[in-house]
Amino acid sequence: MLVNATHMLQSAEKGHYGLGAFNTNNLEWAQAILTAAEEEQSPLIIQCSMGAAKYQGGYDVVATIVNHLVKNMNITVPVALHLDHGTYEACFEAMDAGFTSIMYDGSHEETFDINVEHTKELVKLAHQKGLSIEAEVGGIGGTEDGVTGMGEIADPEECKVIADLGVDFLACGIGNIHGLYPANWKGLQFDALAAIKEKVGDLPLVLHGGTGIPEDQVKKAISLGVSKVNVNTDLQVVFAEATRKYIEAGKDQQGKGYDPRKLLAPGKQAIIDRTKELMTEFGSVGKGWE
Ligand code: 13P
Repeated sequence: MLVNATHMLQSAEKGHYGLGAFNTNNLEWAQAILTAAEEEQSPLIIQCSMGAAKYQGGYDVVATIVNHLVKNMNITVPVALHLDHGTYEACFEAMDAGFTSIMYDGSHEETFDINVEHTKELVKLAHQKGLSIEAEVGGIGGTEDGVTGMGEIADPEECKVIADLGVDFLACGIGNIHGLYPANWKGLQFDALAAIKEKVGDLPLVLHGGTGIPEDQVKKAISLGVSKVNVNTDLQVVFAEATRKYIEAGKDQQGKGYDPRKLLAPGKQAIIDRTKELMTEFGSVGKGWE
């Protein structure tokens, strides 16, 4: 059975370790991420963007896949299914479909007041249903699902306003961006992170754009109060690399190498291996039901 992400993130915050929140794109992704979590006995947040849910046929398809895999793969660690960067409307759809956690991304709304109003309403609804909710202050840069953010630095006062609405964890821009980092990227703004943490107390913070941030910066961010690290592009890159290697070696043309169960196997294994590495880096290995 799926759980919400509140307890696992509060434990991470108290224990000063991070939990990876890994984006799923299809069946193989979900299987691979769950396999890694079980093998490492790490609690898991498996998350899905609006675009990836549409691609898979809807939020209910994603919820069904993840729910049944958890049961049929005999997964023993806690697993939360989280909506990544939901609009106001998408949050309702994901809640109805059986997601156990939602992110309302109001950072693109016209005014901060709209972000506050929507977050307030969704916090109430999510909590009535026993779900956890993430909100966002300060847009994350980069492009995701066709939306390009400017990569703002979140205002600590605004973070405090949103935190006080009762959200369970909070995403805040600290110079992080989605996708691959450009060569001239300045790095994470730790002063901003420390100022935000000071305002929000023990509320777990979320670091989006987890792909390609140097390990020492990720670890420092975790030590300063980041409890959830979002990773999407990284797993796409390792999947693509492994698949390319298989094709370039001509393996799809040997025997029944074209069978998707064979063709997609190296990519799937690459996701398992990389997810396990990241769980080690973030410190969630062996944390199970802590
Ligand atoms: P990356 O694709 O850069 O890993 O970012 C993922 C993310 O933040 C999802 O919300």
